[in-house]
Amino acid sequence: MRQMKLLTFPALAMLFGFLSLLPVIAEAASKRSAEPIQPIASKKVTAPKLVELGKTLFFEPRLSKSGAISCNSCHNLATGGADNLPSSIGHKWNIGPINSPTVLNSSYSLAQFWDGRAKDLEDQAGGPIANPGEMASTHDLAVQVLKSIPGYQPLFDGAFGKGEITIGKVQKAIAAFEETLVTPGSKFDAWLNGSSKTLSTEELAGYELFKAKGCTGCHNGPAVGGASFQKMGLVKPYAAKSPAEGRIAVTKLEADRNVFKVPTLRNVELTAPYFHDGAVWSLEEAVKLMGVHQLGIEISEAETGKIVAFLKTLTGKQPDIKLPVLPPSGKDTPRPDFQ
Ligand code: HEC
Ligand code: HEC
Repeated sequence: MRQMKLLTFPALAMLFGFLSLLPVIAEAASKRSAEPIQPIASKKVTAPKLVELGKTLFFEPRLSKSGAISCNSCHNLATGGADNLPSSIGHKWNIGPINSPTVLNSSYSLAQFWDGRAKDLEDQAGGPIANPGEMASTHDLAVQVLKSIPGYQPLFDGAFGKGEITIGKVQKAIAAFEETLVTPGSKFDAWLNGSSKTLSTEELAGYELFKAKGCTGCHNGPAVGGASFQKMGLVKPYAAKSPAEGRIAVTKLEADRNVFKVPTLRNVELTAPYFHDGAVWSLEEAVKLMGVHQLGIEISEAETGKIVAFLKTLTGKQPDIKLPVLPPSGKDTPRPDFQ
C-alpha cells in the first residue's frame, strides 16, 4: 500500500490502460498458437563432439568412391541445403532420377526421402554412400577409408567412447549433425511468436490466402510440410518429368502411385527448382500449379504474388557453419577411383 501512494495519477492511468490491454495481447498470442503452422525451435546441442564429427563426415568427399562427392555436394549448406539442380549429379556424372530435397529442418519430417523409404535421418544416412548413382562406395569401403585416416579414430572415440569405427556410428554422427540444421528466426516465426509488426500487408494477405485456399491442408506444422504423404495431382493428374513412382515403391499399393512426402516450404525461396522432378523454376509457377493440380482452382496473378510474398517470409536464419578441417589421408588410404 505504501508503494501505491508513490504512483501519481497519470502513472496509475497508464498502468490500468496497460492492464486492460493484456487480454487483447494474450488473445493475439493465443490466436497465433492456434495457427496451422508453428515456429521452428532452435536446437540445443547436447553432444557437441558427436555433432562436430557428423559435420566433418557431412563434408567428407572420401566417403565417395571418387573422393569427389560429399553429402554437401548435393545438399549444399550455402544454397539452402539443396543443389539447385533439377536432379542431382552423382558418381561419373550420373544424372539422378529425382530432385534433391533440402536437409534443413528435415528432422521434422515423418520419414525421409520423397517416398519415405527411410524411417529417420540415421537410417537415411547410410543410403547415399552405397548408392551406385550417388557416392558409389560401399559401407565396408567407407569404413576402411575412415580407419585409414589417422585423424578419425580420436574423433570417433571422443564422440562414442573408445571403440572401432563402424558404419552405424557414421550414420549416427551424420544424423546428429543434421538434427542441428534447423532454421529458426524467420520473419514469419517472429509474427507467430506474437510480434505484430513483422509481416507486411501483402505478406499477411498471402498467408490468409494460403490458409483460405487450402494449402495448409497439406503444408502445415513447424516445417510447413513433411507431416504427411499426399498424391501429386490429387485433382488433376500431373505429368512428371521423373520416372519416380512415389510411395508405391515402399507400400506396393496402387493407391500410393504418385504419392510423395509433402515437402517443407521452409526456406523454399532458396531451393529452386521445385517438385520431385525439379521441373519448375519459379515459385509463382509452383503456386499456380499447386492450385490446379492439388486444389482444382485457378489462383490469380495478384493472389499468387501475395502467396509468394508470404512464402518468402519462411526463410529462416541459416545454420552458422564453420567449415571443418578434414584430417589428411594416411599411407594406406585408398586412392580416388573414378570407375
Ligand atoms: C549425388 C547427390 C547426393 C548425395 C551425394 C547425397 N544426397 Fe541426399 N539426397 C539426394 C537426392 C536426389 C535425394 C532424394 C532421393 C529420393 O527421395 O529418392 C536425397 C535425399 C536425402 C535426404 C532426405 C530428405 C527428405 O526431405 O526426404 C536426406 C536427409 C539426405 N539426402 C541426406 C544426405 C546425406 C547425409 C548424404 C551423405 C552421406 C547425402 N544425402 C548425399 C542427393 C544426394
Ligand atoms: C493435397 C495436398 C497439397 C495441397 C492442398 C497443396 N500442396 Fe503443395 N505440395 C504437395 C505435394 C505432395 C508436393 C510435392 C509434389 C511433387 O514434388 O511431386 C507439394 C509441393 C509444393 C511446392 C514445391 C516445394 C518444393 O520444394 O519442391 C510448393 C511451393 C507448394 N507445394 C506450395 C503449395 C501451395 C502454395 C498450395 C496452395 C495453393 C499447396 N502447395 C497446396 C501437396 C499439397
